[in-house]
Amino acid sequence: MSKLELRNISKSYVRDKKTFSVLDDITISVGEGEFVTLIGPSGSGKSTMFRLIGGVETPDRGQVLIGGRDVTGVRGLISYMPQQASLFPWMTVRDNIVSALEIAGAARGEARASAEDWLRRIELDSVAGEYPHVLSGGMQQRISFLRALLMPRDVMCLDEPFAALDALTRTEMQRWLLKLWEDQRRSVLFVTHSIEEALTLSDRIYVLSPAPARVLREITVPFERPRRADVWTLPAFTALKRDILALLGEGDGDSDAI
Ligand SMILES: Nc1ncnc2c1ncn2[C@@H]1O[C@H](COP(=O)(O)OP(=O)(O)OP(=O)(O)O)[C@@H](O)[C@H]1O
Ligand SMILES: [Mg+2]
Repeated sequence: MSKLELRNISKSYVRDKKTFSVLDDITISVGEGEFVTLIGPSGSGKSTMFRLIGGVETPDRGQVLIGGRDVTGVRGLISYMPQQASLFPWMTVRDNIVSALEIAGAARGEARASAEDWLRRIELDSVAGEYPHVLSGGMQQRISFLRALLMPRDVMCLDEPFAALDALTRTEMQRWLLKLWEDQRRSVLFVTHSIEEALTLSDRIYVLSPAPARVLREITVPFERPRRADVWTLPAFTALKRDILALLGEGDGDSDAI
């Protein structure tokens, strides 16, 4: 059974008295411990899907299921990480993690001990007493990701978490995320504009059309886990990248941005 399923979801918005269809009969799923990525043009409704999954909005048609249960319009069932790090600016790095553990149900003493452990694991113990604004973007995103990871929810939804980072930091973050995720194996729905990022991280990829978004293709990523750091050098990687670029209407160009 899928952890998360969107079944025949359609959604439109009314703007200036005109109706804009954003999602057109979308069906996708995320299995237990599976890393699934949505890739599609800007404005194709990816963030809208997250709002529907989070129950913040309701679809015109179709259902959202978590663990096989219809949860359309129900809030609070997923953990979510937005593009910009969402940390409490008035709390130190340590307390940001402690508070996530407490929200997740840990008692204070237990949360404190566990936070120290996590800080070492994500290699941020040296900045535990700092406030988020003095950290680099990559460090902030690590803590933000950890906070999402610690939420005891069935599904993690990550909306372009690395989009604001420079290319080098982004590659570092991908490796970091891969290592942590391959260890923890949570069910993830991830959004990115980067084809390479999608191929590096995912088990499956849904390629979406421009709005109104439809699923153009579902791709099973064949590379073994744990994934090699140089997976991008494999001929199959290049071939899949070319396929996805073609689906997105970019021809054989070598641009990774869509
Ligand atoms: N509340 C709303 N009212 C009206 N239109 C909306 C609303 N929310 C989203 N839209 C429209 O729906 C479309 C899809 O938006 P969405 O943010 O889901 O796209 P996206 O795929 O996440 O894009 P990006 O890749 O740029 O983040 C856009 O045209 C947007 O203007
Ligand atoms: Mg978006």
